[in-house]
Amino acid sequence: MLRIAPSLLSADFGGLAEAVGEVSAEADWLHVDVMDGHFVPNLTIGPPVVRSLRAHTGLFFDCHLMMTNPGEYLEAFRHAGADGCTVHVEVGSTSELLAEAKGFGLRAGLALNPETPYEAIDPFIDQADLILCMTVHPGFGGQEFMEEVVPKIARTRREIDRRGLETDLEVDGGIDETTAELVVRAGARILVAGSAIFSDPSPWEAARRIRLAGEKGLAEHK
Ligand code: DX5
Ligand code: ZN
Repeated sequence: MLRIAPSLLSADFGGLAEAVGEVSAEADWLHVDVMDGHFVPNLTIGPPVVRSLRAHTGLFFDCHLMMTNPGEYLEAFRHAGADGCTVHVEVGSTSELLAEAKGFGLRAGLALNPETPYEAIDPFIDQADLILCMTVHPGFGGQEFMEEVVPKIARTRREIDRRGLETDLEVDGGIDETTAELVVRAGARILVAGSAIFSDPSPWEAARRIRLAGEKGLAEHK
């Protein structure tokens, strides 16, 4: 099964509820990029915005915490209506953070930056509900897909399957109709896309094209 998770980072922040409405028909999840101005050189949104959006949609909120101290905010995100929270392996305390997220009833995700090797997440792939492979340097939307990450996506898929785990595998950064097929072929099953969806005059149709491209990759993965 393939999931499309439009990233609200590329939507108009002055009309987020409207943006959600524009993709809902083709969105399985909504990806919410949280940046703290420290782990990444950008600032975005926090729990109050998640809470406001919660009133407008029942879609799964997939919160990507690009933060140095995500542990201080997990509970607040949960109370605001987040369904899943993904923390970065680069910030450390991984086992504690994943356990804490689960304790709050969140799906617990673990992200790794493009230059971080697979070995960094290996001890945690059975504890995480989801692994997020970044295919750009986190911090900004609209960057170019880094093809050199593809072997790491394939390696992660192999390790998940070899151990018979149900861990989800998500990719984020530069996903469009071309790269979607490539990453799904490598084993990704959740596709985050921001600019490719929200720069399109019809966001839901753009999301649908990404889904169709991904499904082609799925047919080839078998
Ligand atoms: C980047 C964010 C991504 C971003 C992807 O730091 O984590 O979720 O929104 O945007 P695109 O799809 O434009 O690369
Ligand atoms: Zn993201």
